[in-house]
Amino acid sequence: MSQRMTIDQILDKKRRDQKITMLTAYDYPLARLLDEAGVDIVLVGDSLANVVLGLETTREVGINEMIHHAKAVNRGVKKAMLVGDMPFSAYQIHPQEAVKNARRFVEEAGCQAVKLEWFDQCLDVTRDILRAGIPVMGHVGLTPQTVDQLDGFKVQGKDARSARELIQHARDLEKAGCFSLVLECIPDRIAQTITQELSIPTIGIGAGVHCDGQVLVTYDLLGLSERFHPKFVKEYVDLKPVILQAIQQYKKEVLQSEFPDGAHSFTMKKEEWEKLKQRGHTPQGGV
Ligand code: KIV
Repeated sequence: MSQRMTIDQILDKKRRDQKITMLTAYDYPLARLLDEAGVDIVLVGDSLANVVLGLETTREVGINEMIHHAKAVNRGVKKAMLVGDMPFSAYQIHPQEAVKNARRFVEEAGCQAVKLEWFDQCLDVTRDILRAGIPVMGHVGLTPQTVDQLDGFKVQGKDARSARELIQHARDLEKAGCFSLVLECIPDRIAQTITQELSIPTIGIGAGVHCDGQVLVTYDLLGLSERFHPKFVKEYVDLKPVILQAIQQYKKEVLQSEFPDGAHSFTMKKEEWEKLKQRGHTPQGGV
């Protein structure tokens, strides 16, 4: 835990003009791989809802499921910073419960910070959580938890008025004390403007190359996601056919009694087998 990436180190990356990498994880094996690959921040995203749990929207995942998965990720992360994504119901329905739920990410699941999507009471909730000593990562632009108020999954801040509002939200979150900000699905020029103005790092997803860092949903990057792929997703590998082929091969070998072969089976000493045979305990037709 003590060797994990710290907030100061993340802030320092911006000062030194070094890019920040963030990816999502929901389980132990993937968390280990992200950590081994040297990713700076592992986010237990509420994208858990669609990506892993097969739910329609991120609104449907609750705090208990998030904590359950965050605990597994925590066991696999040694070097990266671990951030827990607050699910909608943990802070937007009853904002007064936000601190209690944020604390669960830290105390039960070993997270170093929580992420909150922008909503109308975001600044108050952010300040409350910060006052409780828990660092906060903001999230502006396309905020899936409140997509019904945004006219759907569309690029945000495309006209001057909404861009101005977006820039103001970013400024307000920095002022409130966030240590970093996710910018989702906004024009690259707006992301660049925010990145240049703020002293905290911006981490973009569909926000162009000028952000201080980038984040993707790992299952999208690996080609394991069945969901609709927005333009900003880059599939670095398509693991679906690889996995499918392996499973089909396994099935074929089981049906043909080719698996398990000798290399994947256990033997016993001949004399023990003989003793067993003498007592008549051999399977029917046993040798
Ligand atoms: O839940 C998530 O995966 C996210 C990232 C896309 C930033 O919030």
